[in-house]
Amino acid sequence: MNVLLPQHATIIEVGPRDGLQNEQNQIKTDDKIRFIKALKAAGMKEIEITSFVSPKWVPQMKDASEIVKTCLDDTRNFVLAPNRKGIERIKETNVKAIALFAGVSNSFNQKNSNKGTKELLHELLPLVEELKADGYFVRACISTAFYCPYEGKIDGNDTIDVCQQFVNAGVDELSVADTIGMATPEESHNLFSQLVKEFPTTLLTAHFHDTRGMALANIYACLQAGISRFDTSAGGLGGCPFAKGATGNVATESVVYMLERMGIETGINLEKLMGAINEIEPHLSRSILTPYRTLYNKEKEGSIK
Ligand code: HMG
Ligand code: MG
Repeated sequence: MNVLLPQHATIIEVGPRDGLQNEQNQIKTDDKIRFIKALKAAGMKEIEITSFVSPKWVPQMKDASEIVKTCLDDTRNFVLAPNRKGIERIKETNVKAIALFAGVSNSFNQKNSNKGTKELLHELLPLVEELKADGYFVRACISTAFYCPYEGKIDGNDTIDVCQQFVNAGVDELSVADTIGMATPEESHNLFSQLVKEFPTTLLTAHFHDTRGMALANIYACLQAGISRFDTSAGGLGGCPFAKGATGNVATESVVYMLERMGIETGINLEKLMGAINEIEPHLSRSILTPYRTLYNKEKEGSIK
């Protein structure tokens, strides 16, 4: 390997938001809070804790205000907002870091935000400017950057164009997503290399869903393109309810294990991360069966010596 890889990578834990938003069981607020606290105890310094979306659209996130009241601290706690109403609700809290989201694909935006891309950007871009003027950290989550479940392959130039509009409006960070886990390592390397070139002063984060098992390979490709920030979800929980076929995010434990074994420091304690998964797993509609977790459980049971 002749590419210089980073010595440190930042994990942005999205389990409490992306991880839980698609969960069938309505999880009690206290159980979510215990999960978030355990994730922080494992070393998470950046974490999406909830979203201020319409509770009619995503009932799982209806307790966003209570989550925020209990979980804010001096680390970077992101909350998502889909529109001005979400921002107004957030402004009543002490949240300092806001994530707005828009897809590149028009059909995805219609399903996810009930607006086409043009109309959605028309609403969100002035909000970025306002939030920056008010001193917030603003992240833009760019969905369907590679493929859309309704429109198929997305032209990379369209992705760059949407990113450019958010950068012009003043975002601090772009989190660029493979929403339905179809990107290949080559496509990941190409897009993220271009993002690095186009937006050298913006924090760039890769957000991979692991629908087809390619997320770790894509992260490796992104490291080679100069990316060192990754959105991941403890236990591989996750998926957007409005992206047909979307499944979990890449599992935090898999990414942390890979990076640490490669000598790339993450600051995350894997044993404590397993403790965080123990907090949430009994409340979920399914077991957590990521390879790392499965092996860990077997070792605990003593079935592997
Ligand atoms: P709409 O129905 O067009 O909105 O939905 P509306 O303005 O007509 O409002 C409908 C009702 O919702 C009204 O209530 C509003 O007050 C209320 P009513 O008067 O009928 O009682 N409402 C709200 N309530 C609380 N907070 C709000 C809010 N807004 C309206 N912010 C809307 C439009 C954008 C609201 C809706 O489509 C929505 O909430 N969408 C969110 C979808 C979502 O959460 N998707 C998942 C997050 S994105 C994601 O996962 C992708 C990502 O991970 C990256 C990747 O992987 O690709 C980031
Ligand atoms: Mg996602």
